[in-house]
Amino acid sequence: MSGGPVHPADPTAAHWHDGTRCVHAGLPEPTPGQPFLPGPVFAAPYHLDPWQGPAATPNGYGRPDNPTRRLLEAAIGELEGGECRVFASGQAAITGLLLAVLRPGDTVLLPADGYFPVRAFATATLAGMGVRVGFVPTAGPYPSFDGVRLVLLETPANPGLDVADIAVLAGAAHAAGALVAVDNTTATPLGQRPLDLGADVVVASGTKALTGHSDLLLGYVAARSAELLETVTGWRTTTGAVPGAFDAWLAHRSLATLDLRLARQSANAAAVVELLADRDDVTGLRWPGRPDDPAYPVASRQLRRMPGVLSFDLGDADRVARFVAASRLVAAATSFGGLHTSADRRAQWGDDTAPGFVRLSCGVEDTVDLVADLAAALDTAGTAGPLS
Ligand SMILES: Cc1ncc(COP(=O)(O)O)c(C=O)c1O
Repeated sequence: MSGGPVHPADPTAAHWHDGTRCVHAGLPEPTPGQPFLPGPVFAAPYHLDPWQGPAATPNGYGRPDNPTRRLLEAAIGELEGGECRVFASGQAAITGLLLAVLRPGDTVLLPADGYFPVRAFATATLAGMGVRVGFVPTAGPYPSFDGVRLVLLETPANPGLDVADIAVLAGAAHAAGALVAVDNTTATPLGQRPLDLGADVVVASGTKALTGHSDLLLGYVAARSAELLETVTGWRTTTGAVPGAFDAWLAHRSLATLDLRLARQSANAAAVVELLADRDDVTGLRWPGRPDDPAYPVASRQLRRMPGVLSFDLGDADRVARFVAASRLVAAATSFGGLHTSADRRAQWGDDTAPGFVRLSCGVEDTVDLVADLAAALDTAGTAGPLS
């Protein structure tokens, strides 16, 4: 079983559209009698050639080597336009990149409004190792990159959904000798191609829309530089944060429908935004696909499709709880990008957001059902403040 790209010499593959690319991503050459996507290979050790040892086969031991994982990496790599290494979670991938690249005395710039465990990790661990850590809001303004080793952008940022201009910032960072990493979790490789826009490396949680079924954790790093990939691969092999074979297989199976899922999620988000924009009992509505959103000018150039995630403010925690409880279709849950619409009041996790701030992740329900359900739930929830 090979982990190489599908039909690498096939010139038509380069022109395939998103749905075709997702369905075929990472699949081995068709072989009569074999499945489309080979089943998961469960192995810690593999049989070795008694004379040549591990040199004779790509599979020696399960931590560095697994054929199911390699097929998933080929698939994600095709979609991102680079080589990919998968990790046990998004956090494993992001912290792995940071720890593999940064050394004491280096400076790293991180998003001030991005996924908060990355900031917590930087403050607790990187700063303690002698790495200087700076935080910059995703929408800017950005400081000079002189003396910076690595800039991590998270765009669109979770949960505020601001957007950073990857091409402009990569140009400025490279001129100063800094590396640029982009967290592509919210957009997914179909929504945004950071490596094409000049980023050196993509990091992401595959737990969200990429796999989209709310049943596994996954992360990945993708890059074009062989040196960077070698560093990341070495880091993963020696620290061991690999996903299991079954999760890798489930993720690959789920990837085939990414185009379809994103299309419905994005259409649902657009319809929900239209509903919420018309209500004077909802404030702070943010969605990068909305023409009067502050992120729209960059988002409309940079994103290939708009995410299914939006945010708004319902005033207080009580009203958020009443809204979710009144809905038949909105699950109270963290995470986002799944098949099921879910709402998360981010302040309950310690995010620096207002008490009534909600991140809503639109699922793949029928748009008409979702909009009707949300409208009714908001009506039932009443206005902010406890019901008397
Ligand atoms: C933007 C972003 N990056 C990284 C992560 C971490 O991913 P995981 O939960 O798979 O570790 C998350 C999780 O929500 C996220 O939203």
